[in-house]
Amino acid sequence: MRIHNIVNWAIALMPKVTTAFLPPPASDAVLQNNITWDNQSFFINGERQLLLSGEFHPWRLPVPSLWLDIFQKIKALGFSATSFYVHWALLESEPSVYRADGIFDLVPFFEAAAEAGIYLLVRPGPYIQAESFGGGFPGWIARTNGTLRSNDSGFLDSFHTYYSNTTSLIAKYQISNGGPVILLQPENEYTGSNNEFEPSYMQYIMDEARSNGIVVPFLSNDPGPYGHNAPESGVGAVDVYGHDYYPLGFSCSNPDNWTSFELPTDFYQTHESQSPTTPYSLVEFQGGSMDSWGGPGFDNCAQMVGAEAERMWYKNNVAAGVSFFSIYMIYGGTNWGNVGYPSGYTSYDYGAAITESRTVDRDKYSELKLLGNFLKVSPTYLDVQPFNSSVTMAITSDISVSPLLGLSTNSSFWVVRHTDYTSSDDTSYTMPIQTSNGTVTIPQLGGVLSLLGRDSKILVTDYPLGNINLLYSTAELFTWKQFGDYIVVVLYGEIGEHEELAIGLSNPDITVLEGDSSSVQHQYTGNQTILAWDITSSRLVVRVGDVYLFLLDRTSAYNFWVPQLITSETTHNYTSNATIASSIIVNAGYLVRTARLQGNDLYLEADFNATTTVEIFGAPENAKNLYINGRGQNFTKDSHGFWSTSAIFETPQFTLPDLTKLTWHSIDSLPELQASYNDSDWVDASLTFTANVDYKLSTPTSLFSSDYGYHVGFLLYRGSFTANGQETQLNLTTQGGGVFETAVWINDTFIGIEEGSREPRGILDYSLDGGHSQSDISWKLTGNLGGEQYVDLTRGPLNEGGLYAERQGLHLPYPDVNDSTYGWGSSTPFQGIDSAGVGFWTARLPLDLPSGYDIPLSFQFDQGTLSGAEYCAQLYVNGFQFGKYAPSYGPQTEFPVPQGILNYNGDNWLAISVFSYNSSGASVSSLQLVNNTIATSPIQVDLTNQPAYTKRANAY
Ligand code: GAL
Repeated sequence: MRIHNIVNWAIALMPKVTTAFLPPPASDAVLQNNITWDNQSFFINGERQLLLSGEFHPWRLPVPSLWLDIFQKIKALGFSATSFYVHWALLESEPSVYRADGIFDLVPFFEAAAEAGIYLLVRPGPYIQAESFGGGFPGWIARTNGTLRSNDSGFLDSFHTYYSNTTSLIAKYQISNGGPVILLQPENEYTGSNNEFEPSYMQYIMDEARSNGIVVPFLSNDPGPYGHNAPESGVGAVDVYGHDYYPLGFSCSNPDNWTSFELPTDFYQTHESQSPTTPYSLVEFQGGSMDSWGGPGFDNCAQMVGAEAERMWYKNNVAAGVSFFSIYMIYGGTNWGNVGYPSGYTSYDYGAAITESRTVDRDKYSELKLLGNFLKVSPTYLDVQPFNSSVTMAITSDISVSPLLGLSTNSSFWVVRHTDYTSSDDTSYTMPIQTSNGTVTIPQLGGVLSLLGRDSKILVTDYPLGNINLLYSTAELFTWKQFGDYIVVVLYGEIGEHEELAIGLSNPDITVLEGDSSSVQHQYTGNQTILAWDITSSRLVVRVGDVYLFLLDRTSAYNFWVPQLITSETTHNYTSNATIASSIIVNAGYLVRTARLQGNDLYLEADFNATTTVEIFGAPENAKNLYINGRGQNFTKDSHGFWSTSAIFETPQFTLPDLTKLTWHSIDSLPELQASYNDSDWVDASLTFTANVDYKLSTPTSLFSSDYGYHVGFLLYRGSFTANGQETQLNLTTQGGGVFETAVWINDTFIGIEEGSREPRGILDYSLDGGHSQSDISWKLTGNLGGEQYVDLTRGPLNEGGLYAERQGLHLPYPDVNDSTYGWGSSTPFQGIDSAGVGFWTARLPLDLPSGYDIPLSFQFDQGTLSGAEYCAQLYVNGFQFGKYAPSYGPQTEFPVPQGILNYNGDNWLAISVFSYNSSGASVSSLQLVNNTIATSPIQVDLTNQPAYTKRANAY
């Protein structure tokens, strides 16, 4: 008898819940002065700075030449930083063998961040969680002696190779050496109730980092702000206390039902009681959500943490005075290979602001850009007294206002929302507001202010626009700039709102440059000029003295960008007072990445998804010529010095191949069922103990795959016994992770499927009747070829599982389809297989896509609707596993594959395995290559290294 137990997907060590701790005072002799802090903010090179950041994992986008693309999209939000985890399991699959080259090399990541002007918070674990394989731990951690995340020497020794190699590399790219790294977070949420906080373990990690040259401050990330058990100073204390928060939770099923979400209103007070000497740091704040097999899908998560939620929750954090604010995730990416944890599917889109396909067409991206750019140009925000956002000025019972009162200046901020933050009402109000001219009730010229639906606004008072004082504005500010002798201010509101501002200019000339002059009311009162207007879809441009006011509706504001101007004098593109001051304002639709002045030439790098009028405000005096993506542009310059041109979008001409028409080559990928199959190279499951300290064996020998070095993807087991004719029943208890299927054959007869739900992976228990003892069955098993000594060093340790085709390397480009050992046929995945088992197909896929465009591609199964069929397909593109499609679980039907994995101008190799656990087999009913939002784009994408198939000598 042979039993073929195919277990799909890997298992992750489960997260540990944690609590918080108090930080030490801000003094540490080893720190360099490039980055310091006080209780209000960090200082970078002596400058007080707000740090707006978003999380992005390089290992979830395995195309290094695309990292700059993501950093530029983060930078364009007005953000100055990115946080990221380093994933240990990808770098040390085999104990003490550290490999961090090719797509796993961090150097190009540091370089791309520096080029985009993005500072980095590095989070090298060793534990990271992140819905990733092992939470970052390599599979062999199950065999180490000692409690994980503790001070046990067996565990401490286990991460020495990884941690010393990684932190010494990070050390070279610290700000003290001119690099982008400004902060390091040791461990992850290591302060919980579930795990005993061991100060000496935390200290050990920090000491290791310091001994490898890390000088930047250590930042913690408590899982939540409430309750902590870590030391304030001394052993185990970090430099700066920070916490995480996910107030909307992780179920995206009811994205618009806010009643189950929490709006924390005591963040400021909690911070003051926990860490009064450090800047208020939100190290992870909800930017979307994870989703699991069978879940509602990431579009729902993007809707849940959408533009409205960003306005409500992020502005509530602003009300609490946050000054390090990082959004998890800003770009989620892909769980290619087996990078994800077992409950998660291939996409890790996360419903983030930047989609998995790297597009920026979600409203939530644009909304975040409004907030990010506003805070970026508002240095007085770091000079205010916050209060708990429960301490509000009651304007009406329906409206609450949280003040941030100016400390050394009068400049104050007022965060307005519905008292019942879940309310979708349209509510009108007037409001008394403190200004340097006394308290005024706004709007002064009549009418009412409104909150239309779920919204929160930040109003400003005594806001300095250079030397001019904006006494107040009810419209929200997107950006402003002083350009020589004039100022441009961009304000926005929701269509239907009435707005008013007062500016400290007496009797200035007022000209409506664009729009109907009767739509702008004005009044001079003493040294102030008051303007009032209604927001409509037509913009108003009003000149008040030397101030140009652009009065926009929200979606028009979404088209504005504020790139920092790179010049020959610029030494870097990081955010600083100088780079903020030299920025220009561009109205250009889809995306503006960079602006550069070289001599008399102004270069813009931008993406367009439609023909777009491009306006440039504040082009430097000496700029005479305009280039967009390297191409010279004719433009007009009006009497105000504003430039205008048109960027033409031509729909690219290309056809994507019909995948049903490819020349497919097929093999049976479960030859192990055949009596003639030779399993002599398989490992004997002969260990009479398990190294897994958390689990006891219920079987005479261990059948846990990790005891034999197999941690990812498909596992195969063969058991044999001598039959006595009395057998009627075999019981198996198996485990494969969050979602898995086990198929069992006796000889070559398919018996059925099994399900289970516990760690570790493999066969946990079995029994056979007919008078047999367990030891009557002897077992062999296999997983990926080589186990921890994985074969494909380029694609890394988590790419391949244990299927026959994978072990043989037939998923790689240019498999030898003439090699008769494999018994190649010419069926297609659309014909499939007609019994339970595993079919495998491969085909050459030529592509020829036009250059100058960003054309994100996805493989779409079943035209986007789950068929419910009982199979799991794996999709491989040029050898990289980029999809697990399970039509009876879902939800994912569309699998983005980035350019760089795909060769857009040449041959690609596509492969598909289909594991049918239904006795009548399975076929792929439809598979198409489709494109996402197309934009003309300056991005340059290099093809990753993708070694072709060569015969694997030791494969079985
Ligand atoms: C946090 C954790 C992250 C990630 C997140 C949920 O608690 O630190 O790694 O798992 O939850 O997406």
